[in-house]
Amino acid sequence: MKHTTNSLLLMYTEFLVFLLLFSTTLLIASSQTIVETLPGYPGPLPFKLETGYIGVGEDEAVQLFYCFVESEGNPEEDPLIVWLAGGPGCATLRSFFFQIGPMQIQYDNYMDNVPALQLHPNSWTKVANVIYLDAPTQTGYSYTKTPEAIRSSDTSSAAQTAEFLRKFVRNHPKFLKNPMYVAGISYSGIVVPIITEELYKGNDEGLEPILNIKGYMAGNPLTDKSLDINSRFEYAYRLALISKDLYESTRKACNGDYANADSNNLQCMSNIYEVNKRVKGIYTQQILEPDCDPATNLLTIIIPIVRGNRRALQANPINDSICQGYYHEYAIPWANDEKVKKALNIRKGTVKEWTLCNMDMQYNYGKQSMPSYEFDVLSSVEYHKKLSKRNCRALIFSGDHDMMVSHVGTYNWINSLNLTITYNNWDPWYVKGQHAGYKTTYARDNYSLAFVTVKGAGHTAPEFKPKECFVMVKRWFAHKPI
Ligand SMILES: *[C@@H]1O[C@H](CO)[C@@H](O)[C@H](O)[C@H]1NC(C)=O
Ligand SMILES: *[C@@H]1O[C@H](CO)[C@@H](O)[C@H](O)[C@H]1NC(C)=O
Ligand SMILES: *[C@@H]1O[C@H](CO)[C@@H](O)[C@H](O)[C@H]1NC(C)=O
Repeated sequence: MKHTTNSLLLMYTEFLVFLLLFSTTLLIASSQTIVETLPGYPGPLPFKLETGYIGVGEDEAVQLFYCFVESEGNPEEDPLIVWLAGGPGCATLRSFFFQIGPMQIQYDNYMDNVPALQLHPNSWTKVANVIYLDAPTQTGYSYTKTPEAIRSSDTSSAAQTAEFLRKFVRNHPKFLKNPMYVAGISYSGIVVPIITEELYKGNDEGLEPILNIKGYMAGNPLTDKSLDINSRFEYAYRLALISKDLYESTRKACNGDYANADSNNLQCMSNIYEVNKRVKGIYTQQILEPDCDPATNLLTIIIPIVRGNRRALQANPINDSICQGYYHEYAIPWANDEKVKKALNIRKGTVKEWTLCNMDMQYNYGKQSMPSYEFDVLSSVEYHKKLSKRNCRALIFSGDHDMMVSHVGTYNWINSLNLTITYNNWDPWYVKGQHAGYKTTYARDNYSLAFVTVKGAGHTAPEFKPKECFVMVKRWFAHKPI
């Protein structure tokens, strides 16, 4: 009898332990949420959206937030990509709403007291499973559990993103077999090749799960900081913004280095002054658009990717002729709305105010660091070199009206890799019979790189030429000629 009571007790304890374990599993599972509706959009979402957090770094003190959209095409076979918005510190919702995401903001319409949403016909989620990631920490809805974990750097955030990706696939084993690409724009050009190399290396070292990493993509990617800034000068000349005389005399006086020009070289300084005078008032991110940043200074500082993000949203709907960046501000009231945060399952009390870009980590040329971030990689060219020894594909695209990270600098570092030109050498490519830009294809052994310019596009090419960029990436994913 006694014995029975004991074993019953034991069973009961086991049951409790089981319950406890089971509820822990539930707790872990609950950091992933399927989102069926969103404020601003009528009815259920016609695509599969999941949001969640994954802890990385020491004691998982860094909690990275993501939105994951399953491919609306063939999720079992389409690629799995992670997309980084740049900055560093820019929120992934910028990409979700304004670049490659399934939804767009309607600028003249409100619903549920937030800016109304509509579907985006050129969403990359039609051909890929896309993870929109808020990285590094302190970006978008990502946060840290300890004050020490706030500060990150190019190398630490790349390592954290690589850790995130392995954990993400572990939690989503149905995507183990899908070809995987690391992708991003602008400042992400520094971390995308580092993350990609880290994933290959992790596979070599036998980290679980083994990822089906196939390559990477980057748009107007900052890559070699000095070289990219210097290339703005050449770009300004090629786009007829400065005269041939000024171009030649400046090149001679400054010996080809403008970003780090010697301030004792008075001839060079005076030439740079003349150059800056001529490009002042040109919007660096798309030279044909109206300028919103009167502080444009071509050759000595980098313009923050977006300006201050606390400006109040204008009451009036914004006119087409007004600066591109103003549209992004519609995301602010949406992302800070309590109903929205509830729908996205944002953890209470983790992020006081969602901002488009965290200004405590925005890149500034010449600065070593910002309060929350250290710029510890000057050039990611060496990572491209490492990747060129792997079985790897790369797509590098450039909006050719961007002066911030211009195609001139991008072309130069790609050529420094000494690859062999294969099928195309600055050949035109077409979308619906219309000229869309130029393509050059390179290879060495098992590495291939396609360099594609998008004619007429600005700094974030998919924002300016959504249809062309969608067709480009669709062809590239399918291993078809662009
Ligand atoms: C928008 O543009 C139109 C025509 O250019 C102008 O009449 C109108 O005042 C503008 N509206 C705002 C809010 O700026
Ligand atoms: C490319 O070739 C040049 C000239 O042959 C050489 O100086 C350079 O080191 C090479 N770069 C790489 C990445 O192999
Ligand atoms: C290219 O990949 C194939 C198949 O994985 C491999 O056998 C070959 O050694 C690789 N070539 C080089 C030069 O790495």
